[in-house]
Amino acid sequence: MQTVSLSQLTNQLEDYEYFVIDKKVYDLHLASSLIDKTIYLLENPEQEKTLQSFEKICCFFLDKNIKRSDTLVCIGGGATTDLGGYVASSLLRGIEWVSVPTTLLAMIDAAIGGKVGINTSHGKNMIGSFHMPKRELLSSDFLETLDKTQIQSGKGELLKYGFLSKDIFQLIEEKSSLDQIIPACIEYKKDIVEKDFKESGVREILNLGHTFGHAIEKCSEVEHGLAVALGIKMNLMFFSTNLLVMFEKLIESLEISLPEIKVDREEFLEYLKADKKNKSKDKIRFVTVKEASQTNIIDIDLKNLKEQLAEKAYASFFR
Ligand SMILES: NC(=O)c1ccc[n+]([C@@H]2O[C@H](COP(=O)([O-])OP(=O)(O)OC[C@H]3O[C@@H](n4cnc5c(N)ncnc54)[C@H](O)[C@@H]3O)[C@@H](O)[C@H]2O)c1
Repeated sequence: MQTVSLSQLTNQLEDYEYFVIDKKVYDLHLASSLIDKTIYLLENPEQEKTLQSFEKICCFFLDKNIKRSDTLVCIGGGATTDLGGYVASSLLRGIEWVSVPTTLLAMIDAAIGGKVGINTSHGKNMIGSFHMPKRELLSSDFLETLDKTQIQSGKGELLKYGFLSKDIFQLIEEKSSLDQIIPACIEYKKDIVEKDFKESGVREILNLGHTFGHAIEKCSEVEHGLAVALGIKMNLMFFSTNLLVMFEKLIESLEISLPEIKVDREEFLEYLKADKKNKSKDKIRFVTVKEASQTNIIDIDLKNLKEQLAEKAYASFFR
């Protein structure tokens, strides 16, 4: 999938009527081109990934007479495509949707592959479904207005692909442009999703770093992709110390500055226990990498995990 210019992209949007859009993206890029459309704007997409906003958005479009044959276009970062895609998956028992990612993280991951959902007090994305967009439209022009933290967050998620695909590792190591790296990540993810749409097998590897990462994200103010990067680091410290050098190399090539965190250990464990990938209540599921691009899925006893996390090596992560 290649990126197009913003004006080519907005031309392609002419065919559609119903939109869910991140307000910041709308104000920066789309206000003058999307005229006479039915648009629900998200002021604060991550905070709005809730059941309450889900209902509000559904009712907004039902009031506007949306029909099952209509398509919902979702434009924004991962929070917008997760929430908007989830609305599309349920509204009138499911309508088609188009995803238009506007952050690096959404372009390489969140907006690709049809996982959609919302958060609850139990954790991130605890309610959701699999609903593939019928189309993705990509313009790297959107990236020009992203702030440094969002670029860093996208690069944090990019790190994951460096461990999963030798080709992407090479692109990162050669400091290739994002215009080259983004399509490579999309192609890699699409290939995996094609083999296992509902994540009952190989798709699980895309969760590398996310078990610890989601718990970090819930217990701190750290952005999703940077929480994933920290989650990968913790994961390697646990299972694959031989790859910590590779981690440092990728961090350096991508110019990622990892944030310092101090999370509450008990709260962190609670979120690990609630991880929806777990198969039983006393075992936590992890994706591990032994060698670059050689992955494994393992279930670790909660008791063992708790003991290990209390060791000195992990002290810097906790209060
Ligand atoms: N469904 C999946 O497979 C999947 C995978 C990874 C992450 N996610 C989800 O994605 C979300 C994180 O995505 P995100 O990092 O894109 O966050 P986000 O959608 O919250 O966007 C981050 C910030 O960037 C702003 N923004 C978006 N596009 C912009 C642009 N072009 N210019 C300026 N500002 C812009 C937004 O307003 C927001 O403030 C999380 O909710 C996470 O759970 C989903």
